[in-house]
Amino acid sequence: MNRTDDGFTGESTRSVHGGVERDKFAQSLIDPIAQTATYTFADLDEFSAFKAGEKSLYEYGRYGNPTQRAAERKIAALENAEAALLFSSGMSAITSVLYAMLRSGQHLVLMEDCYRMTAKFCEVLAKFGIESTLVKPGDMDGLAAAVRPQTRLIFTESPTNPHLHVLDLEQLVAFAKQRRLKVIIDSTLATPVNQRPLDFGVDLVIHSATKYLGGHNDLMAGAVCGKAPLVEAIGEYQRITGSIVDPNTSFLLIRGLKTLALRVLRQNDTASTVARFLAAHPKIGQVFYPGLESHVDHRVAKEQMRGFGGLISFEVNGTFEQTRDFVHRLAVPYIAPSLGGVETLVSHPATVSYYDLSQKERLAIGITDQLVRYAVGIEDAAELVGDLERALEEV
Ligand SMILES: Cc1ncc(COP(=O)(O)O)c(C=O)c1O
Repeated sequence: MNRTDDGFTGESTRSVHGGVERDKFAQSLIDPIAQTATYTFADLDEFSAFKAGEKSLYEYGRYGNPTQRAAERKIAALENAEAALLFSSGMSAITSVLYAMLRSGQHLVLMEDCYRMTAKFCEVLAKFGIESTLVKPGDMDGLAAAVRPQTRLIFTESPTNPHLHVLDLEQLVAFAKQRRLKVIIDSTLATPVNQRPLDFGVDLVIHSATKYLGGHNDLMAGAVCGKAPLVEAIGEYQRITGSIVDPNTSFLLIRGLKTLALRVLRQNDTASTVARFLAAHPKIGQVFYPGLESHVDHRVAKEQMRGFGGLISFEVNGTFEQTRDFVHRLAVPYIAPSLGGVETLVSHPATVSYYDLSQKERLAIGITDQLVRYAVGIEDAAELVGDLERALEEV
């Protein structure tokens, strides 16, 4: 959990070299997988010296692993963070942070249009006497009205999922500072290539590392980044609860992170091309992509982000059935509920993530029957556009 300040400024150089300790085990180029559940001590005096902070050693797998620490150093370097901590999934990062930072009687504000399970977890928190209020992203009056004397923190994604709202981080941090609230940003959709919320004074950044950080749809992990004392306090909680990432996953994550900029810069370009194609198509209604001038948060996104990301949501001009038919006719993407990997994935939120809500309940949160979520991978933009064009012709 050490700060790494390598001074690399190019996004790709940072992705490859950021946070990497050059001197590794057996002069290996790549960080090895330390596949061990426990660590050993020469004698009990060494253990005591370790506990007294006189020796820096590892103790037990649940308390940290060298491969995990290497991945954390890399993520901290990419996010300009003093410290980063990995978890077994994005949700375990979110639940651990909220459990560690809140206690009974306290309150949080959660921005709507977030990952559904984050909102569901706030319902779980109510069981422990922690209340939450949902506010529309960017609604500063609604936010001011939601804050109570018991409010401790504001939690939001930026960009949000699936409507890609971009929060004005400077404004949000100023608002929170005046009221002594912490700000936590789930920056999964942005990645540190497109946005570094800590540079705006945000307290914690969370990632579902399952998505862009891993980048290959082959691992589950979560990350928390911020100032060392806060991250260490969350780490103390993790040592007890045990929602840890394993050494093999950490290894895969390091491998994925090295191509983060390469992938994300490509995904930014491809998504912009796809979004512009969709926005101009007569069979498509609204397109939600912060890179489009028509997006409600385009101005903020342009000022705050270096790129607009790889996720696009859009509405097909048609019925529930016609929208599903369109999704079925796409040949390149897989139908799947994730995003951020090298394969393009497509989802129909009304059928997939929100299948258990009535149409009325879905409409209240903007999940129309016609909404499609399209997460670009690293395929050729022309091929993706051609595939979309053909599928739209057919419906
Ligand atoms: C924005 C966002 N945050 C958090 C999560 C949860 O992450 P995980 O699936 O790694 O638990 C997701 C998952 O889809 C997500 O999209």
